[in-house]
Amino acid sequence: MKKYQIAKPYITDEERTAVLNVLNSGDLSLGPKHKEFESKFAKKIGTKYACSVSSGTAGLHLAMIVANIQPGDEVITSPFSFVASANCILYVGANPVFVDIDPVTYNMAPENIEAAITPKTKAILVVHIFGQAAEMSKISKIAKKYNLKIIEDACESVCAEHDGKKVGTFGESAVFAFYPNKQMVTGEGGMITTNDKKIYKLCSSLRNQGRSENMQWLDHERLGYNYRLDEMSAALGIVQLAKLDKMIKTRQNIANWYNKCLTPHKQLIQTPKTAKNNTHTWFVYVATLNQSKIDRDQLILELAKQGISTKPYLPSIHLFSFYKNKFNYKKGDFPVAEKVSDNAIALPFYIGLKENDIKYKS
Ligand SMILES: Cc1ncc(COP(=O)(O)O)c(C=O)c1O
Repeated sequence: MKKYQIAKPYITDEERTAVLNVLNSGDLSLGPKHKEFESKFAKKIGTKYACSVSSGTAGLHLAMIVANIQPGDEVITSPFSFVASANCILYVGANPVFVDIDPVTYNMAPENIEAAITPKTKAILVVHIFGQAAEMSKISKIAKKYNLKIIEDACESVCAEHDGKKVGTFGESAVFAFYPNKQMVTGEGGMITTNDKKIYKLCSSLRNQGRSENMQWLDHERLGYNYRLDEMSAALGIVQLAKLDKMIKTRQNIANWYNKCLTPHKQLIQTPKTAKNNTHTWFVYVATLNQSKIDRDQLILELAKQGISTKPYLPSIHLFSFYKNKFNYKKGDFPVAEKVSDNAIALPFYIGLKENDIKYKS
């Protein structure tokens, strides 16, 4: 029986050779590769600077620090995201304030933001979910009106565009992630992009134990962390970056195959939608079920028996036990996010799937 995983990285001999070359060089950390990866990534996104880090979560933590988010501050964000986008706000002692999402793109709905702003609000942490940009034209206007910083969580949406502009270029900083299920991978790894030299320098110091720029003196100027990206991962990232456009195109084709196969069954399952001014770069393929006709748990079990992995994806952050206990959230607080969480299913999605694989059980 053929097995279908949910996600799988696309690794070829090129990546293997690049990693092996680093191993042979002996330069395993703080060598030339992370610098090369940073400059190439910044160029790709269209920002002046990029700072590599050990994960998307590490990048988000640093983005909160450099935005000077302080204990007691509030940061507006989406409940429909991976937990790290809210956790990073807690890491600096601030409070995440969730606003409900748009039922079509699953991103933060701009019309819900103003009601969530208080005198304590310092920033909006915008998550671009599943490979699609949030409605940045509207969100940027609100941020400007209330003098709020924008920090982008672009971990799932490398190269996604809104109104022809790439995510990662809207906020004072943005964070990308390269976990093995992402559009491009480094193993663990992440990147912070910015046009602000001060932010870049501060991130570079913070991710390297707070060291001063002049490493020779080995001075630690501030409280820092070990959030460095190692050279093997950076070398892998360089190769993946060079083929990113091609990989995204392939993912778009796979998504189109799914859309074509599932659209005739729209009474049972709805395909994901792309807003007309967005370019989707497809981190995952998530459809929503009409559960009066198909039970999601049952479907997941049935598909698993046939070698097809699927997942309820993704749960809303405010209903995780940690968040419920800390903030007293309950079911019904963010009904749109909850409805998507309750009905969504992620289907196998990775380079290597062919049109016939998609047709297989559709
Ligand atoms: C939206 C979002 N934010 C943050 C992260 C954290 O990235 P990492 O797993 O590299 O720490 C992820 C990773 O899956 C994510 O999807």
